[in-house]
Amino acid sequence: MPVTQFAVEEKYEYLEGFGCYHSSEAVKGANPVAINSPQKPPLGLNTERISGSSFTAPRAENQQTWLYRVVPSLDHADFGTHSVPNEQSVADKQLKLTPNAFLWQNFPVPADADFVSSQQLIAKNGDPTTKTGCAYLVFSATKDMAEHEAFFSSDGDYLIVPQAGTLDIQTELGRLLVRQNEFAVIPRGIRYRVTLPTGLARGLIVELYQGHFQLPELGPIGSSSLAGVRDFQVPKAYFDGKIENGVAVINHPDQEWTIVTKFAGTLFSCKQTHTPFDVVGWNGTYYPYKFDFARFCVLGSVLFDHPDPSIFTVLTAPSNRQAGTAVIDFAVIPPRWSVMEGTYWAPYFHRNCMSEFAFPVVGDQSPGNPLSQGRRFLPFGGLLNNPMVPHGMDPARHEEARERSTAPEKVDDGPFFLCLFETEATMALSEYALKASGKKVETVPKL
Ligand SMILES: [Fe+2]
Repeated sequence: MPVTQFAVEEKYEYLEGFGCYHSSEAVKGANPVAINSPQKPPLGLNTERISGSSFTAPRAENQQTWLYRVVPSLDHADFGTHSVPNEQSVADKQLKLTPNAFLWQNFPVPADADFVSSQQLIAKNGDPTTKTGCAYLVFSATKDMAEHEAFFSSDGDYLIVPQAGTLDIQTELGRLLVRQNEFAVIPRGIRYRVTLPTGLARGLIVELYQGHFQLPELGPIGSSSLAGVRDFQVPKAYFDGKIENGVAVINHPDQEWTIVTKFAGTLFSCKQTHTPFDVVGWNGTYYPYKFDFARFCVLGSVLFDHPDPSIFTVLTAPSNRQAGTAVIDFAVIPPRWSVMEGTYWAPYFHRNCMSEFAFPVVGDQSPGNPLSQGRRFLPFGGLLNNPMVPHGMDPARHEEARERSTAPEKVDDGPFFLCLFETEATMALSEYALKASGKKVETVPKL
């Protein structure tokens, strides 16, 4: 079955479909019929809209959602700067550029942190204030977010890839359980709280400052394969409240909440006296979602040579600078059959105008796992090759690839999913990432 056999059982139900107009109600009748902003919405609710695109964006790219909630989001005190123990999480002011390749054995992580406070910037291009580019972050959460705290990024959509553990994410639009071998996208502006049902959870994030993710075009592939539209799972409406005398109320009125946001690369927070999880019904095209890597219908060559790795693209955020290029292509190279005759099966030596960042999602992370011994990618490592940095196999692997049998073989060791973030722009490294590499190299500051 092309579905991961997860150790942690699914606990939520989902809507299905990527890029669809979805509608969900925690209480029947919460979404008004036909009219979006009735004078008096159902169940005593307030109408609120979240716009993920400009109003006049083309229909295929237009992302708007209507929320019907107990208390409007604007009911909060002013934001002030928000301190977390790991100051690197916001230290994107001293980025450095280098033409050298970077291989990380591991990214050091704090011992005591939640999903937000554990985040460390690895690399970045562009600027959230001009809605250009993206950033790569690592997270390693050892504890739940505070009981009455929620987070949202004002800067970008978060594509979250857990490499270990499970994230239970309560969003304004409902709940998502995101386990190793799945990934989730939380669009900018959507508030959420992350708890850890199985303890430590760590992984990588790409924060997309520009536009949103979409499915790649399929061209000659036809109308299906790669990531299927119906395999994206979208949360159903859920709220911390109940109906009393035909009116929706929250469970604990006057409870103080802290809302943390990342705004222009800096964390801010504010207080409010109501839960942000009070959306009783919603409908629209702007929502979080998740996907199980095992559902990816991988394609490949069946005679000779490799297709370009774009064949592994799960989601893309196209650039508006040049057709066919991307702010981010998110690709996964999953377990698959290799059958190419007389072909060098390993990646050939190459240089690329794009910047490539690769990292693994490894099933067995124990030190005794042969995958952890002598592989290029340790369970929590990563590899960055900026534009035109030459890369390929080392001499030993090159020789092995030249001599190996090319009888058909299932590549399924782990399982081992190799994930790729590929972007059109050069990625500048943070101080944290440079230090974590343990590599002494010449760098120049990013202007
Ligand atoms: Fe490459």
